[in-house]
Amino acid sequence: MKFHVLTLFPEIPRAFFESSIMAKAVDKGIIAYDLVNIRDFALDKHNTCDDSPYGGGAGMVMMTEPLVRALESVGVRSKKIGGKKTTGKSKKRVIYVTPSGKTLTQKLSYELSREEELIFICGRYEGIDQRVIDSYVDTEISIGDYVLSSGEVAATVIIDAVYRLIEGVITAESLQEESFSDGLLEYPQYTRPEVFNGIKVPDVLLSGHHENIRKWRLKKRLEKTLMVRPELITECRKNGTLTTEAEKMIEQILFSGD
Ligand code: ADE
Repeated sequence: MKFHVLTLFPEIPRAFFESSIMAKAVDKGIIAYDLVNIRDFALDKHNTCDDSPYGGGAGMVMMTEPLVRALESVGVRSKKIGGKKTTGKSKKRVIYVTPSGKTLTQKLSYELSREEELIFICGRYEGIDQRVIDSYVDTEISIGDYVLSSGEVAATVIIDAVYRLIEGVITAESLQEESFSDGLLEYPQYTRPEVFNGIKVPDVLLSGHHENIRKWRLKKRLEKTLMVRPELITECRKNGTLTTEAEKMIEQILFSGD
């Protein structure tokens, strides 16, 4: 998988690509990346990349030319010319990170992890020209219902959610029981010491009884999900991913207060 990040501030995503598990994945050749400074594609001697919006209003808009030249430099071609679709189909998926996009979920992260190349456009100021979106962007993605000062952090969040799902980056076992893997939140974790701050590790986790541990963990996941994200339980029921065992536990949690 190759990530291309088109940005005015490459130092923000660079720190992420150069650290920890990502750096290892790059070393192993599982991930490749390319940080493209949009300013390098500006046309004037001041390297201008922003201009005022048509129609007036606060702030500036990213100029079309530097951005389009940056896109073309990584092999992206316009999907439309003069409003008409072009025939060129590309294997590269172009993502514009914006609060107006569809919200990132674990499901969308899995979908993106199956692409060969992802190209991220990081917006600054009031965003980018709509015609660049119409001509070059495949998917607009938001990381949540709040507004960040720029797209770099949001793009880095999406890249983090996606690259760890690629085979060989982390173990399949780690992915199996984490939050959202099957629509539920994660169970609580404990490590040494056995007693911390007067609180003892639950006995079942010290018992070595694998079946009881599995049941306890499932119950904790259901309790947590019911308490903080009840809509996820509704979603699981819709998708048919709640087992009969889980449904019985929910009944027990809700009606016995146990
Ligand atoms: N840029 C600014 N805020 C954002 C958000 N919430 N998601 C994606 N990109 C953004």
